Amino acid sequence: MLFAVGAASCLDSSGPSTPTPAAGPQAPSNPSIALTSPEVQLPIPLALLGDGQSAAQKVQINIFKVEGGLRGEALKEPFEFGVNAESLYTLSGLEAGPLEISATVTDASGQTLAEGAMRANIVAGLQTLPELILRRQPAPSETEARPVLLDLTLNLTIKGPPAPPEPTEPAVVRAALKASSCLGCHSQRSARGGLVLEKFPYQTQNTALSAGGQVAIVREMAARMSSTDAPMPPTGFPATKPENIKIIEAFAESLTATAEASARPATEASAPLDEKSIAAASLEIKLGAASRIVLPLQKDGLTFRADATPGLIAGQSYHYSLRVYDPQNLVLLDLPDAVFTVPADGKVNLLQDMNASRGG
Ligand code: HEC
Repeated sequence: MLFAVGAASCLDSSGPSTPTPAAGPQAPSNPSIALTSPEVQLPIPLALLGDGQSAAQKVQINIFKVEGGLRGEALKEPFEFGVNAESLYTLSGLEAGPLEISATVTDASGQTLAEGAMRANIVAGLQTLPELILRRQPAPSETEARPVLLDLTLNLTIKGPPAPPEPTEPAVVRAALKASSCLGCHSQRSARGGLVLEKFPYQTQNTALSAGGQVAIVREMAARMSSTDAPMPPTGFPATKPENIKIIEAFAESLTATAEASARPATEASAPLDEKSIAAASLEIKLGAASRIVLPLQKDGLTFRADATPGLIAGQSYHYSLRVYDPQNLVLLDLPDAVFTVPADGKVNLLQDMNASRGG
């Protein structure tokens, strides 16, 4: 009975818009409307799907109104087609006017293989639209967004205070030594006076000099370059240009400064930490603008394990903050904003060097 009612209502508007010979009494009462209502042929070539072409099973076509240049509401139920050899799909029952037509090609499991959309101004009567160009969907990756249980471990490391910067020889110094012909007598082979200036750190009597020794020898180099009674290069060689003397003097000064900085005693703030000076850590994960979860952590030496496994989205990045406390509950490390990305297995291993963000 219901079927009969439905069939009857087709007579009015939603029925097939083109009269077919078999339609007989169901043909619209006003044939002129039927003749001028749009009948659209839409080519959707699948060639660009390449290998995916054989997997393509279904084409779903959605029709939207275009209102003020924007995609408006869906006009009618989507069209569903099996993939056909001609790659041509007939859309009937459309309204004339500007429409957005989007197509989705899926495989047997309903997985989207390609999508595309186009706009067209639909007119009355039969028309063939330009080809709708599809974009291939990237193959689903391992880290596709899906919920996983977070399994978080935090490993703290205690490295010593950062190593003092290694002094290096600026290129201008090398050029000044070359220009002043020092290397002819102070190479590895000749090493006059036991001094080798071939590369930095310099050597005397086949021994690499200590930091202090480097400072002393470079000072002496500068002094000998401007000396009148014992000049370097020795008398008879072209005198060193003043600007090259200045370069060696400046190098002596910078080496002095570096040596003094590394000799400075460690300050209170950079006093070395040990395992016992770290008592607890708290980690807070930001889920959104206002929502966050505090993750309780169990301490095991310098390793902390989360004893809750909240559900997060694999492949997604989350901001978190971390605080590490000493036995007196004083904050040893405060990391206000860092980021981790949840892998497909939910296992997140955070590494944090305790000296990395401590002041001092
Ligand atoms: C012709 C060869 C010759 C050239 C060129 C030369 N030197 Fe010398 N240098 C010597 C000899 C020989 C000694 C050892 C005797 C002395 O100290 O005067 C020496 C000694 C030195 C010493 C003292 C080493 C020490 O252990 O106390 C310094 C510093 C030095 N040279 C720097 C330089 C510099 C810088 C240049 C380039 C501007 C240079 N020399 C060019 C031959 C040379």
